[in-house]
Amino acid sequence: MKVSNDVQIEQKVDALLKLMTLEEKIGQMSQIRHFEVAADVLVTEKFIGSIIHTQGPNPGKTALDWQKRFVKLQKKALSTRLGIPLLFAVDAVHGQNTFEGATIFPHNIGLGATGNEKLVEEITSITALESQATGFNWVFSPCVAIPFNEKWGRVYEAFSESTELTEKLTRASVKGYQGSLSDSKTVMATAKHFIGDGATDFGVEGGNTSLSSKEIKERLLAPYRTAVKENIGAVMVSFNTLSGISMHAHKALITDTLKGEMDFDGIVVSDWKGYSRFGENEIINAGVDIIMAVDGDLEDFQKGVKRGVETDTIALSRIDDAVKRILRQKFRLGLFKNPFPDAALVSKIGVNEHRNIAKQAVRESLVLLKNKNKVLPLSKDTKKIVVIGEHANSSGLQSGGWTLNWQGTKDNYKGATTILEGIEKHSTATVVYDKDATQNHFDADIAIIVVGETPYAEFFGDIGHESNTRKLTLTEEHQKYIKIYSEKGVKTVVVLVSGRPLIVTSQIEISDAFIASWLLGSEGEGVAEVLFGDFNFKGKLPHSWPTSIEDYKGKYGPNFWDNSIKPLYPLGYGLKY
Ligand code: BGC
Repeated sequence: MKVSNDVQIEQKVDALLKLMTLEEKIGQMSQIRHFEVAADVLVTEKFIGSIIHTQGPNPGKTALDWQKRFVKLQKKALSTRLGIPLLFAVDAVHGQNTFEGATIFPHNIGLGATGNEKLVEEITSITALESQATGFNWVFSPCVAIPFNEKWGRVYEAFSESTELTEKLTRASVKGYQGSLSDSKTVMATAKHFIGDGATDFGVEGGNTSLSSKEIKERLLAPYRTAVKENIGAVMVSFNTLSGISMHAHKALITDTLKGEMDFDGIVVSDWKGYSRFGENEIINAGVDIIMAVDGDLEDFQKGVKRGVETDTIALSRIDDAVKRILRQKFRLGLFKNPFPDAALVSKIGVNEHRNIAKQAVRESLVLLKNKNKVLPLSKDTKKIVVIGEHANSSGLQSGGWTLNWQGTKDNYKGATTILEGIEKHSTATVVYDKDATQNHFDADIAIIVVGETPYAEFFGDIGHESNTRKLTLTEEHQKYIKIYSEKGVKTVVVLVSGRPLIVTSQIEISDAFIASWLLGSEGEGVAEVLFGDFNFKGKLPHSWPTSIEDYKGKYGPNFWDNSIKPLYPLGYGLKY
């Protein structure tokens, strides 16, 4: 039986709705930031329904401080006439990645490479717990996009280009986050971004998708169906347009398909400043229930919707539908009974038990693309190892975007272990570090060369966007690291840290072993455990791997595959030693 059939909850929702004024209803639909000027006052005076935390300022220093900040806001909400509790939402997309000291897992692309649904469920249940420990009851994850153009800057946020694999891991992910939902260690999950985010022409973030609605349904809807079957609490609408129509205003897909045909009874949440950016009241009429009314949008949104109802351009029944969905989830989460986070959870943040699961995920996500003359696993007789590349010694670089900051960090962060630290710990050989391949350690038996992309999120990661000069190839510096050591006859093991497949055909050719390690999070030691043979490789490519830049002309991906293009490695490829 679907939870929505919980008659008692429905009765409570209806009873509460009857008591609400229009202002209180619009308040429930409003989401603001916790550091918004006068947030505390807005919660009581504007009847705010939810709070978002993403990029700082942080709510405090320690996890307990974070909880305290949210307890204070929650008490304000409970002091209002109807005492409706707040939802607290966070972009915890690979662990509670906004809190330094939390366990950071590989990004979804790495989880796609593990293909391990049990592991993904464990990961998201840990993320739920660590999110609750910092005061949140709602996460904006998982991203269930099916990317088909690697130029898109968010490829790594999604599991795979394979629909089946995405469905399987979506199911696991929602299960892990939500558990029984009313448990104080679980959170409400959000499937995003509905729909077509990863299918825009040329991989442009927020661009236009020229697929027809029929194609969208056939190719991209499956993971949403899975998420809805798992009773996911929320779905976030996407920045992209679909044949010119903004997804935020796409009534046919949001109301008719998602809420109607698919029977989704949870919350449709807008994306960042959705109201002012994508058509104001039109998006409410299309079926958006909660608005991220951030950075100055609140007043326009609240006034605009009120005017809409008063002038009959928004039906009151639409507002009631939105509020019912919000209240329903608040009851399901048990917030009316337990509105506050559990202080006892704080001691669980970043504990070894959690880090061990993250390390397992790193090990299982590594994909071995080449292993000439069985250079791996590294022999115990190895005398000297030289480790090269700034990515080898930076937990920030190895973790990618959405790590501490929206755009990630290049620095080391608390609790994390770098790839180099892991190698030093596991090696019986002498290990030297030659950050930029200038120290000529050509007497080494093995060169472990760690290269890749610098962190990015959203359009900052789009190839071809004016915000950056990113390419689908390695930088010249990184190409040089590999060239210098391989030309000197040192056996080279290349570890590629990236959010997507890159064009590395000639680097693969000249190296002895080549590993795709994606964006692995806080547990760099997992790499060494596989290099030194404690565990074999398990990862399989979650994306087909392109040979050349030419492959990116127009669209790229399995469903849209131009049969004349052969990938260098197909989807599912991955060696063992
Ligand atoms: C992103 C979403 C994210 C939201 C809130 C947006 O820019 O597209 O994925 O959840 O910000 O931070």
